[in-house]
Amino acid sequence: MKKTVLYNKNIVLGVCGGIAAYKSVELLRRLVKLGARVRVIMTRSATRFVGPMTFEVLSENPVCLDLFEEKDDAAIRHIAWAEAAHGVVIAPATANMVAKLTHGIADDALSTFMLAVTCPVMICPSMNSNMFEHPATQRNLSRLKADGCRILAPGEGELACGTTGPGRLPEPEAMVDRLISFLSPDDLAGKNVLVTAGPTREAIDPVRFISNPSSGKMGYAIARAAENRGARVTLVTGPVALAPPLNVEVVPVVTVDDMAQAVFSRLEQSHVVVKVAAVSDYRPVKTETHKIKKGEGGVQLALERTTDILKTVGQRKSHQIVVGFAAETRDMENHARKKLEEKRMDMIAANLIGPPDSGFASDTNRMTLFFADGRKEDLEVMDKDAVAHLILDRVAELVKQRAIP
Ligand SMILES: Cc1cc2nc3c(=O)[nH]c(=O)nc-3n(C[C@H](O)[C@H](O)[C@H](O)COP(=O)(O)O)c2cc1C
Repeated sequence: MKKTVLYNKNIVLGVCGGIAAYKSVELLRRLVKLGARVRVIMTRSATRFVGPMTFEVLSENPVCLDLFEEKDDAAIRHIAWAEAAHGVVIAPATANMVAKLTHGIADDALSTFMLAVTCPVMICPSMNSNMFEHPATQRNLSRLKADGCRILAPGEGELACGTTGPGRLPEPEAMVDRLISFLSPDDLAGKNVLVTAGPTREAIDPVRFISNPSSGKMGYAIARAAENRGARVTLVTGPVALAPPLNVEVVPVVTVDDMAQAVFSRLEQSHVVVKVAAVSDYRPVKTETHKIKKGEGGVQLALERTTDILKTVGQRKSHQIVVGFAAETRDMENHARKKLEEKRMDMIAANLIGPPDSGFASDTNRMTLFFADGRKEDLEVMDKDAVAHLILDRVAELVKQRAIP
């Protein structure tokens, strides 16, 4: 289970009568998978696009369609659900619903419920481009934003009505990501967080290189979590097969030298540096211009040390909080503590490579945190997103303790 900010939270999903209503089925499924308790309110028009049964089964809760349903607690459901909600997401939000919410109209279950809501609200408008760009819709969205709602900008592209332009409902994954960001604490707001992720590659010849199996998942999870918590994030990443996190500056690099250059040039303006990348310690002394041809005998490869990025960061750091990672195959504690001290880090997150639930390509990690003041914290096996948030909890404490401007 991914323990994000949505875990055990009461989320109300409002679904309106737009062509993109089918995407809210997948949105619901993802919210439930993240441990949220989701209740769904549909407008009558929404039921013309997707049947309530689908939402009922996936949410394991009755769907609210009408204020005047004659069953159980339907008559007061809108008030009870509004009081219990930790977050509300309306997806898709029709032009009609956006207009009603702007003016406080309460003539159906969803709009009435919305007047009783006091928790954070994310609205995902989706409609034909002309409808979206109409001054009335734009005026209404501005008003809702000023009232404190988070408006998720629709994507551009070909719409179901055949036109091209803004109006597409973002993909469910992006809606979940933005909801998590919206509901997360803003304890890194205003801070510049520099994260490195993935492997590096050192060329042997034009078709071969020295690298490692780092997937980048842990570093990307840290970058995502830092962005969720309000930081301005730069992610320096080696070659990986992952989608770039939303709202994060991504700097792609290949070699250790590229990565070193990208990190050193951003060090001064960073408040927090989290080095998750698995950097090659060695590179070939010489890169062959042409492919090395296969012969009868073996080939000797002369290697030289690469720049120790973390050590240099430790030497040059002034105000920055520096966090490193150590993947070890044995004697984890000694190696991690030595690295922490030698490289003047504030914290190191160490794990043993080998167990199936921990290490390079897995989705989970069993980490131990070691701190510069000698403290040690053993973490249980967790999803990498949960590890990322826990590490950032500790980073936020250090930022606060040190009163970093
Ligand atoms: C096939 C079809 C697709 C529609 N798609 C959208 C849409 O994507 N966005 C939108 O704002 N309205 C769309 N509408 C119009 C709304 O369904 C209509 O304004 C309705 O009154 C909205 O009701 P509601 O806001 O209570 O759900 C569509 C209508 C039809 C017939």
